Amino acid sequence: MRPAWLEIDLTAIADNIERVLSVLGSQRKLIAVIKDDAYGHGATVIGPVAQRCGVRMFAVSLIEEAIEVKSVCSGAEILILGLVPLDAVPTAIEHGFHMPLDSVDRAKVISQAASAQGTAAKVHLKVDTGMHRIGVPADEVGQLCRGLRDLPNLDIRGIFTHFASAPDDPLFTTQQFERFQQACREAETILGQRLPLKHCANSAATVRYPEMWLDAVRPGALLYGIPRNRGGQYLPTMDQALSMKAKIASIRTLPAGEKLGYGRTWQAQRTSRIAQVPLGYGDGYDRHLSNKGEVLLRGRRLPVVGAICMDSTFVDVTDIPGAKVGEEVVMVGSQGDETITIAEIAEHCGTVVQEVPVRMNVRLPRIYTCQPGDERVAHFADRYRSATSDVSA
Ligand SMILES: Cc1ncc(COP(=O)(O)O)c(C=O)c1O
Repeated sequence: MRPAWLEIDLTAIADNIERVLSVLGSQRKLIAVIKDDAYGHGATVIGPVAQRCGVRMFAVSLIEEAIEVKSVCSGAEILILGLVPLDAVPTAIEHGFHMPLDSVDRAKVISQAASAQGTAAKVHLKVDTGMHRIGVPADEVGQLCRGLRDLPNLDIRGIFTHFASAPDDPLFTTQQFERFQQACREAETILGQRLPLKHCANSAATVRYPEMWLDAVRPGALLYGIPRNRGGQYLPTMDQALSMKAKIASIRTLPAGEKLGYGRTWQAQRTSRIAQVPLGYGDGYDRHLSNKGEVLLRGRRLPVVGAICMDSTFVDVTDIPGAKVGEEVVMVGSQGDETITIAEIAEHCGTVVQEVPVRMNVRLPRIYTCQPGDERVAHFADRYRSATSDVSA
C-alpha cells in the first residue's frame, strides 16, 4: 500500500451520530448529509454505518450520489439537495428519491413524469430565505403553492431552506428562520395540508439553535466531527473522524543557509534535518500550508517547511534527532496528546472546514478503523484502532 493514507475512525462517526440522535429525541429526524462522498469520508461506508446507528434519511447533492447511496442503504429515504436536471426527473421518481421543488414550471415536469409512471413524486418545497442559491423566493411561496394545487401526483413531503451564515451571523440567521416559518405557515394554509418535514438546520444551526431543529436537522460537517466550534450548550463535543498520515520517505541534512524546495522559499537557519513525506497538494494537503502547517511526529508538533509539492511535503525534524525513515507522520489527526484539527488546516488555508476533507479524497487510499470490539461498526472496518495512532502493524 502507498505509504500515505487517510484513516477514518468509524467509532467516531457512530458516536457523533448517536450523540445527535440522542439530543434530538424520537420526535425529530436526522437527515445525514453525505454528499460529495460523505465529505470525502466515503459515502458507501458512512451511509451503512449511519443506517446501523439509526439514521433513516440521507441528503446528497446529485442524482448520481443518490443512486450510489441507495445501492448500499436499502430502505433509506434519500433527499437530493440540488435541482435535479429535468431529463433526470423520471429516474429520480423511479428510485423514489425526494426532490426539491422551486417553481411551478419544475412542478409541472415532475407531475407529468410521475403521472406517466402511475406514481407520486416525493418533493420538498425549497424556499430561498436569503442564501439566493436554490429555491422559490420566500415572498413567492404563496404563488408557488397556488400553482401546485391542481397538479396531480406530487407528494409534498416537506419544506426546507438553507442558511447563508449560521456559524457567524445570528441576526441574519434568525431573519432567515423567521422568513422560513412564515413561508411554512403560508404553504400549509394554501395547500390545506400539514407538511410533515420542515427542516433548515445545517451543522452550525444544529449546534447553536435548538429552536431551529423543527421536524428534522440536516447537518453534514458535524457528523464527521469537523465544525469550527466543537461542542456547545446543546450538543456534546464531536470527535474528528478523519486523519491523514504518511511514513517518512527520506531524510537529508542541510547546512545552515541552504534553501529548500520549489521557489527556495525556506532557508535553514541552522544545520537542519529535513524529512520528505510522500504526499502533497495532489493528495489534498493544501499548498497554502507551505511554511505554515504543522505535523505530528512522536506526538510532537513539527513545522512544514518549504513549498508543498504535488507529491511531497518537507518537515523539519531537527528537533527530534532520532527521527528515521519509515516513521509515521500525522498530517491531520491525533498522535499522543496532540491533535491537528481540520479546523486548524482550514484556518491556515483561508477556507471552510468542509472543503478540507473533500479535497483530500482524490487519490489517497482510505483505511477504516474502529475501537476494538465496537460491534456497531466492526463489520465495516478494515482494522481496529490501536492505542497509539499507529495502525501500520
Ligand atoms: C442544503 C444543504 N443542507 C445542509 C448542508 C450541510 O451543511 P453543514 O456541512 O454545514 O452541516 C449543506 C452543505 O453545504 C447544504 O448545501
